[in-house]
Amino acid sequence: MKVLITGGAGYVGTSLIPQLLEKNFKVHVFDNLMFGGDAIFPFFRNPNFSFTKGDIRDFNALKKVAADADIVIHLAAIVGYPACRKDPDLAESVNVTGTKNVISVTSNNQLLIYGSTGSNYGSIDEICTEETPLNPLSLYGQTKTLAEKMLLEERNTIAWRFATAFGVSPRLRLDLLVNDFTYKAVKEGYLVVYEKHFMRTFIHVHDMGRAFLFGIENQDKMVNNVYNVGSEKMNYSKEAICELIKKQTNVYVHYADVGEDADKRDYVVSYDKIKKLGFDTTITVEDGIKELAKVCSAVDFKSPYSNI
Ligand SMILES: NC(=O)c1ccc[n+]([C@@H]2O[C@H](COP(=O)([O-])OP(=O)(O)OC[C@H]3O[C@@H](n4cnc5c(N)ncnc54)[C@H](O)[C@@H]3O)[C@@H](O)[C@H]2O)c1
Repeated sequence: MKVLITGGAGYVGTSLIPQLLEKNFKVHVFDNLMFGGDAIFPFFRNPNFSFTKGDIRDFNALKKVAADADIVIHLAAIVGYPACRKDPDLAESVNVTGTKNVISVTSNNQLLIYGSTGSNYGSIDEICTEETPLNPLSLYGQTKTLAEKMLLEERNTIAWRFATAFGVSPRLRLDLLVNDFTYKAVKEGYLVVYEKHFMRTFIHVHDMGRAFLFGIENQDKMVNNVYNVGSEKMNYSKEAICELIKKQTNVYVHYADVGEDADKRDYVVSYDKIKKLGFDTTITVEDGIKELAKVCSAVDFKSPYSNI
């Protein structure tokens, strides 16, 4: 079985690739390498791995790589509200036009799995289920919501509305909440945190990779549907995350109203739908903090691995 991953050289993709290779899938990554390609170097040795450098807005290039794929995992995007705000035209064209291309170059003989996001929910008072009306507030959430809708209407798609990722992956991102806080706790010794009561929901990047395998294995039951992917055990306030980081580092935390989240993510998410089918996460936030603290203590980063 051949799997095409758009955006596979990114944070999520580079954690997913080895899990697919281990299960003997042939993996082809299509990525324009906007953050470089170092993280995929180790996979070239594997005869089941191949790569094309390209942009999902290049219809012909995408068509070529999609033709013989059994499964297409669509991850390529301008990710996060700060990166989308920095270049709104790029965000629209990659996240929306690029997704239209993915639809055009695939058929309903192929399974599509889409890396969607909980940012689609916006600010919600009730517990978010997959039935909760979407109210995306940032350009990131809006473009991801539109792409998710198009894919579900046009193709045999499973859409994962992921919680916010944390943890170490070969293409590390330190602009994600748990990663950012742990990095600053270790490197700077203090944190200034706004909106401390805001509730957020988390998933380790390795468990995101496991979700794709789970979707492939259970596609008959899951296709043409959207799922929240995470765990109710990992709905935390930002303050609670800081308390967990305090237990493992010497950080001083100061709470102050000095910023805001453009996605207004303050929500508790239900993961009942995917749990009933047998999926649960395996790595806790505490374990993720431990892993991140070790890496941040050991390595002097040349760049903060942020998406902007
Ligand atoms: N990390 C999270 O917390 C999270 C949560 C929910 C959903 N997601 C979704 O998962 C997917 C992957 O996220 P990530 O954290 O790995 O982000 P990332 O920024 O690390 O990876 C995105 C990848 O897409 C590639 N890319 C960007 N524009 C492209 C283009 N025009 N053509 C080809 N490739 C292009 C980049 O080079 C990069 O390798 C995204 O669609 C994101 O919306 C991520």
